[in-house]
Amino acid sequence: MYMSEQTIYSMHEQITSTAPGAAGGDNSLCDSFARTISYLRLSLTDRCNLRCLYCVTEEEANGLLRKLRHADLLSYEEMLRVVRVAVGMGITKLRLTGGEPLARRNVLHFIKALGAIPGLSDIRLTTNGVFFAQMARQLFAAGVGKVNISLDSLKPERVARIAGVDCFAQVWRGVETALAVGFSPVKLNVVVMRGINDDELADFARLSQRLPLQVRFIEFMPMGNSSRWRQEMYLSTDAIKAAISPLGELLPLGRNCLDGPAQVFRLGQDAVGSLGFISPISHHFCDNCNRLRLTSAGSLRSCLLHDEEIDLRAILRSGQDDAAISNAIRQAILNKPKGHQLEERLRDAGGDCHGRMSRIGG
Ligand code: 5AD
Ligand code: SF4
Repeated sequence: MYMSEQTIYSMHEQITSTAPGAAGGDNSLCDSFARTISYLRLSLTDRCNLRCLYCVTEEEANGLLRKLRHADLLSYEEMLRVVRVAVGMGITKLRLTGGEPLARRNVLHFIKALGAIPGLSDIRLTTNGVFFAQMARQLFAAGVGKVNISLDSLKPERVARIAGVDCFAQVWRGVETALAVGFSPVKLNVVVMRGINDDELADFARLSQRLPLQVRFIEFMPMGNSSRWRQEMYLSTDAIKAAISPLGELLPLGRNCLDGPAQVFRLGQDAVGSLGFISPISHHFCDNCNRLRLTSAGSLRSCLLHDEEIDLRAILRSGQDDAAISNAIRQAILNKPKGHQLEERLRDAGGDCHGRMSRIGG
């Protein structure tokens, strides 16, 4: 549901400086369930050079869904303005996502400008890794210190099948370059799909013993009405852990603020890296959710799996001042649902989230 500016304004009338969602004296943003929101995920584009089967819907794969026109995307100037306002309100962390963020033209220029925003201490990137190696040094110099790279198989021909493009060598060079340049942490995102890549769980787990990276196993989520998600492709975190257990003990690592929604372990005392488990379906992490999303078309979205959005682009293009932007951000935070209730929605036939991953940015 898109909210009109009018609604936002009239709702804003009711918000006082001490209400939840307002920046408190300590400059932190709280939602209605006392969660502190400090993290903005910014989707730079809905376009991607890959067509990963868990992300692209059937309509997209068949070319039936048109991508956004350039004019529909927020411009870099518009994004910088929103980020400046959000940082002034208490956002300290920013993650750049897509589509594929590195596929947007002049992205390095934009990231340099982001890096110069005072108070923005932490810029992270989620990428498919294809263009990463050639940009890694400049990204690092511009202030991106942490990177998540998607890699769902260690077998080149399988990567080509999952991603629709033969890109394993480029992505792997990206992973090696990230480690060499000093990104920390470097995380590998593995979406686990039964019958597709679940025979590689042990290989990925061993990789975390050998290299200083975090391999993150992510439960496959249904996204969009025509998502290619099927119940029989879903593998729970418990099943993934059981498959890895013969390799050694999973030693829990203390929760630290870089973990996000992951539960993190080391596989045996000698492991150099770690294993993360992200369980959107089997274990809720909503209670600790600290994030707000801005889609590439400029919609503020407070939950990945709830379709309610605020059209910030309309506000940005209506000539209003920064207070209108901060009001919209506060409103989005107040709208943030307690949790996604994905299991319940899956039980109702077809009751999944309509948003497309490539537009929202994961
Ligand atoms: N289920 C789980 N994770 C997904 N991602 C994208 N689509 C899905 C899905 N349907 C994750 C991938 C990618 C990140 C951007 O989002 O791990 O790395
Ligand atoms: Fe937060 Fe929504 Fe994700 Fe739950 S599903 S963790 S509320 S973004």
